[in-house]
Amino acid sequence: VKKAEVLKKNFPQTTLSEPCHAQAEAFAPTNIALCKYWGKRDHELNLPLTSSLSISLPEKGAAVKLIPAIKDQIILNGHTLTSDTIFVRRLVAFLDLFRQQQKWSLTVDITMNIPMAAGLASSACGFASLAKALNNLLDWQLTEHELSIIARLGSGSATRSLWPGFVEWHVGVRTDGMDSYGEPLDHAWPELCLGLAIMSDAIKPISSRDAMRLTVETSTLYGAWPTQVNQDLRSLKEALHHHDFSLLGRTAESNALAMHATMLSSWPPICYALPDTLTTMQKIWALRQQGLELYFTQDAGPNLKLLFLNQDANKVREHFSGLEIVKSTIGLSSSLTLAK
Ligand code: DP6
Repeated sequence: VKKAEVLKKNFPQTTLSEPCHAQAEAFAPTNIALCKYWGKRDHELNLPLTSSLSISLPEKGAAVKLIPAIKDQIILNGHTLTSDTIFVRRLVAFLDLFRQQQKWSLTVDITMNIPMAAGLASSACGFASLAKALNNLLDWQLTEHELSIIARLGSGSATRSLWPGFVEWHVGVRTDGMDSYGEPLDHAWPELCLGLAIMSDAIKPISSRDAMRLTVETSTLYGAWPTQVNQDLRSLKEALHHHDFSLLGRTAESNALAMHATMLSSWPPICYALPDTLTTMQKIWALRQQGLELYFTQDAGPNLKLLFLNQDANKVREHFSGLEIVKSTIGLSSSLTLAK
């Protein structure tokens, strides 16, 4: 109800329009938070309790094609999905927001080159690409800033997936969320690399949505989280400003560990780590002691995202066979395509 009201009042064209092109396409990168979003002040509008800051992976994300059709059909990586999956239900609920008055249906053809539901933010790039493609198909003429507010209604982390590079999601104070949007930060750091250490692409035991809620409601450590976030946001901005990689790595790693500590102190406890996750963390700490500037971050899944500089890429590769390395700021342009 709240979502529909916010749209009607602030973006009336999104509730009145019908498809006006034969098809539309859009790409959105997935993003990895260096300072995490963990906890909501509004569950329907996905309004956060704190700001957060991420980096987008331009080569990894979702490309979506929308084609008007007789009835909805959702295709993911070439396979038609049945309507009983959570992914499809959330996606169709999102589409329904824009067709309360007009009746239209779509074939939604999504290609993602990241493992689904494995803590690699598939919902972030999914909803951001969908918001962009709908903007094209229905001629809403909204800016990326406005589309980030719309994408947030699908999934919080999608707020930060409208741009390449570093993005801050402003917490905002308004109850309608109109001041809670993404903003690209004007910092390029081409030497920064991310490595995807995939332990498992199995579906996670608890969704980030449910885990976040349980944490805010039961964690004995959650009270300390907003203070840490504010400090970490300051440190990350300073690190970006001075290209201080040690500060960036240390802050991102400590922020992720603190988020997981709030989950461990929830009841029932939430632990996304697998034995391999802990072994890899210990390996990273040992390598760092030996002088390699290597850090990690972890989201709502067992996989680790390694952070290091290009000059150390070969060394990191030697220690982690099969590591997929992506550069952070490749192609800082709007003409991004999906590289397989
Ligand atoms: C751990 O954006 O998936 O990745 O808003 O309920 O859809 P909803 O949650 P979601 O949560 C992402 C959590 C995180 C941290 C982050 O991306 O900041």
